Amino acid sequence: ALPPAQAEDLLEWYDRHAREMPWRTGPRARAAGIRPDPYRVWLSEIMLQQTTVAAVRPYFEAFTARWPDVTALAAAEDAEVMAAWAGLGYYARARNLLKCARAVAGEHGGVFPADHAALLKLPGIGPYTAAAVAAIAFDIPATVVDGNVERVMARLHDEPTPLPAAKPVLTRLAADLTPETRPGDYAQAVMDLGATICTPRNPACGLCPWRPSCAGWHAGTAPALPAKTPK
Ligand code: ADE
Repeated sequence: ALPPAQAEDLLEWYDRHAREMPWRTGPRARAAGIRPDPYRVWLSEIMLQQTTVAAVRPYFEAFTARWPDVTALAAAEDAEVMAAWAGLGYYARARNLLKCARAVAGEHGGVFPADHAALLKLPGIGPYTAAAVAAIAFDIPATVVDGNVERVMARLHDEPTPLPAAKPVLTRLAADLTPETRPGDYAQAVMDLGATICTPRNPACGLCPWRPSCAGWHAGTAPALPAKTPK
């Protein structure tokens, strides 16, 4: 089944413009339907919380070189992992990282469950990370909503409600657009669109694959969305 037209427009753009990242598979593997390793997806998503892609890159490379799979990470000493995490900040993430690795090793035989609800039960995995791992690693049509996705949805639908009040509405809009085909690529495509085209300031609407269907572009409101809460 083909994804609906709007998702298809974005996936076509992603096939040409996806950012290269060490936890993603390359274009050829993607075209062949080869998914990235759930361990690498999970590790990258935990590291990317409150941290930029550029800052995460060397830590991701160091962690995966030293601990190539979740069983290896589960067997590491706490102090080794905390030392390797030094500089990334938000150290609760590193403690939860180890708890989660040990739960996957101990309770799931070292295999991340391919199931949104089971992922949610793991330590340190909240709704965002569960949806990201389900979609990106397992191609489950879970809806991944971060700040980028909220901004893109607010503009696409010319949603005037400010954040955080608009969160449930924007989550619903994002869920309605998530295709059954290639949901993992779709999730990352929305993030890339938000990071490179539909940026907080001076969005590059001229380059946007969604411009023709963007209500915020047609109304001229896109750059000002999502609306700021009046103070
Ligand atoms: N930020 C968080 N997860 C990401 C991903 N998978 N791709 C790009 N940016 C991200």
